[in-house]
This record gives sequence, structure tokens and C-alpha cells, in this order.
Amino acid sequence: MKKALDGIKIIDFTHVQSGPSCTQLLAWMGADVIKVERVDEGDATRKQLRDIPDVDSLYFTMLNHNKRAITLNTKSPEGKEILDSLIATSDVLVENFAPGALDRMGMTWEHIHSVNPRMILASVKGFGAGRYEECKSYENVAQCAGGAASTTGFDDGVPVVTSAQIGDSGSGLHLALGIVSALFQRVTSGRGQKVSVAMQDAVLNLCRVKLRDQQRLERTGVLEEYPQYTHKPFGVAVPRAGNASGGGQPGAVLKCKGWETDQNAYIYFILQAAVWPAVCKVIGEESWADDEAMNTPQARLPQLQSIFQRIEQWTTEHSKYDVVEILKHYNVPCGPVLSMKEIAEDYDLQASGSIVEVNHPVRGKYKTVGMPIKMSDSPVDITSSPLRGEHTAAVLHDLGYSEPEINLLREKHVI
Ligand code: COA
Repeated sequence: MKKALDGIKIIDFTHVQSGPSCTQLLAWMGADVIKVERVDEGDATRKQLRDIPDVDSLYFTMLNHNKRAITLNTKSPEGKEILDSLIATSDVLVENFAPGALDRMGMTWEHIHSVNPRMILASVKGFGAGRYEECKSYENVAQCAGGAASTTGFDDGVPVVTSAQIGDSGSGLHLALGIVSALFQRVTSGRGQKVSVAMQDAVLNLCRVKLRDQQRLERTGVLEEYPQYTHKPFGVAVPRAGNASGGGQPGAVLKCKGWETDQNAYIYFILQAAVWPAVCKVIGEESWADDEAMNTPQARLPQLQSIFQRIEQWTTEHSKYDVVEILKHYNVPCGPVLSMKEIAEDYDLQASGSIVEVNHPVRGKYKTVGMPIKMSDSPVDITSSPLRGEHTAAVLHDLGYSEPEINLLREKHVI
């Protein structure tokens, strides 16, 4: 079966996480992704957080599946020539260098566009235009500057960054959407275009609900669903809300059986208005269902803490798995807090391809996160990440270079 992006050739000038997460998705959709790395160093993440000496790290392998890899000194005249040939024959160039690095290499948008007017140039930078434009950025910088950290954590603690890589992989997702949209527009316009994503913007986009709350706070002075409500005055900015639900339905993390020794024996419980009678029944408080002091979301708001405490009395009598099984029958929205160990071993995630086992030629077998977007007409087979320079000769052959020319380029350290 063909794949969604069959026939699309992508120069993958990305490194670390944000760019590679984008190009990996495009490779899974069928694009021919050619990763271009520096001759001696390669992508720095090949060597970072290694668990096996001299073997590409999981950090690298888990972000670079299904790609080909070449080494190329794109600052040398011969390297620039090869890069130009690649640009002339490709559809997309993706990069996430520090601001100005591509221009310093001579690969300005004007140059790329003149070599191939159909080319799409896609970039991730830390910040968009403005006072931070020239700054480098990493995941946690983006989380702080994008509004996530100031609104994550508990009211009496410092700002907290989340382990979900919303700055890096979040930017990668945004960029991938921009690229496929630009490919689609090219069908009618015949032209490529520049696609840019700032990590700060990507995080902010994912923190949209907090900008909503900022404006609600400024208008009304309170945020009724926040844990501070009725306990503490609100300040001028959206406070950290702990584990309170970000939506219109109150929610909490509740202890389950075994919480004293297992730090993940918890569930997330949402007190959706529609299931209030069912919740009362499950926890053995049937009289609450018709109690006017409790039977509307508005009436419950000031007493949420005590209501959740009562529900927690019930959840602590059962394992988190049993709680979910029971609540499932009452349509109560809830989910277990799963450890990474539990996720890695989860048979449903393995059956659906969301966790897959990959065989790396040097590392051997390891688990990775599979394609999260399931497409009925574009199946995904996850293959190993490439070794450094594994496809240099093959790619140069395709560009018309002969074996002696390739050997000479190798001697001159261009590849
Ligand atoms: N041949 C020759 N030179 C190459 C090359 C190649 N194949 N690939 C990269 N280089 C050069 C670059 O041109 C640059 O040179 P210059 O500084 O002389 O212009 C140099 O290598 C280093 O690139 P840079 O991007 O500055 O790497 P860094 O390690 O200093 O910074 C980041 C890393 C991630 C902080 C930075 O790239 C960045 O801010 N990127 C944008 C935001 C981002 O994506 N961050 C998240 C990463 S997960």
C-alpha cells in the first residue's frame, strides 16, 4: 500500500529534538527523509545520555527512525555544491539551527528559492520576531517563556516544567502541520514557501486555556474552578492550579489502594456534572444525589475539596485498575496514573502500535513510541534510525557522483 507522503523528498537539516520529531513523523507518513549531519560530530544527541558505550543513544534513535543519513560539511565549497544539488531535487528542507546559522552557511531563503522555487523551507526557532529573536532555546526555556511553567505546579511552590516535551516535540508537530499544508498549497500555487514555528508560540498555543483564564480573572477577580477559590485571594496573574482540571468539569488526582508504598497508585477523577448521581451511588452517598446543597455544579464548587475527600475514601479501598473498571460502567471520566514501566509493558499500546519494538543494527532490540496518528490508507512500519553517514555514498550516487569522486570527497573531509 502506498503512503501519504510517498514521493516527497526531505532534506533533514535538524538536530536534537524539535526538528527531528517533525521529520520523523513525515518519514512515518512515507517521505524520503535524508538527515544531513556534520562530518565528525554528527547530531550531538547520538552521544548524549548513552546507555551502551559507543552505540547511538536512545535519545537519537527514538527521534530518527525511518530516515536515511549522510554526513556533509556544508560550509565547504564542495559541500555547498552537494547541498544545492539536494535542494534542486527535493521538496522540503527542515532545519532548527540557532538563529542566523543557515544564513551564515550561505543558505538564505533567497538562495534556496532561486535554486528550487518549489522548495519549502521549514524552521524551528526558540522565539519569533522581537527582543528574544536571536536567542537559542531548549525545551524548558520554551516552557517557561510560553506560559506553561508559571501555570504548572502548586500554589505554594516554584514554577514547574512538565515532562511532556511540549516545546520540542510540540514545535515539531506544529511544523509538520505547516509543512504538509505548504505541500498542499504548492499543488495549486506551484511555489514553495517559508514555514516557521517559534517554540514559545507552540507552547503558548498549547497553553491557550491559561490565556482564557487570565482574561476571565481580569474580568471577574476569581477563577471558581481553581483550588484557591474560597481559600485564598487571587492575584493579578493566573496562579498554579495543582492538579485541578483545566476544563469546565472539576477534577482531581485521588489516592488508590497501595498509595502509601506505590507513588503511582492514583487515578484522575473528573466530577462531570452528568454523572453526579452515579458518583453518589458508587461511593455510597445516595442521599447526596438530590441534596440541593450539592446537586448542581455551582453548589458543589465551594465544597469541592471535601467532596473529593469523600470520593477518595472510596478510591483508597480499591486498586487504581479496579477503580477505573468500576467507574467505566457508570460512564465516569477517569484514568489511572500510569508509570513509564506500566506504559512500556501495556499490551493495548503494543497491540495498537503506539509502543513498538525496533531492531537496531548495533544496539539490538529496544522499545519506542510508535506513530500516534493512525491513518487507514497510510500504514507505518517503524524501522531503525540510520547510522552516522550510512547513506552518504548512496545519496551521492543518486546525485550523479562517481565512486572516485566520492572517495576524493571523503579524503577531503567534505563527507
Ligand atoms: N556542516 C557544517 N556546519 C554545520 C553543519 C554541517 N553539516 N551542521 C551544522 N553546522 C554548524 C552550524 O552552521 C552552526 O555554525 P555557526 O554557529 O558557525 O553558524 C553550528 O554548526 C552550530 O549550530 P547551532 O544550531 O548553533 O548549534 P548549537 O549546539 O550551538 O545550539 C540549539 C543548539 C538547539 C540551542 C540551537 O540550534 C537552537 O537554538 N535551535 C533553535 C531552537 C531549537 O530547535 N531548540 C530545540 C532543540 S531540541
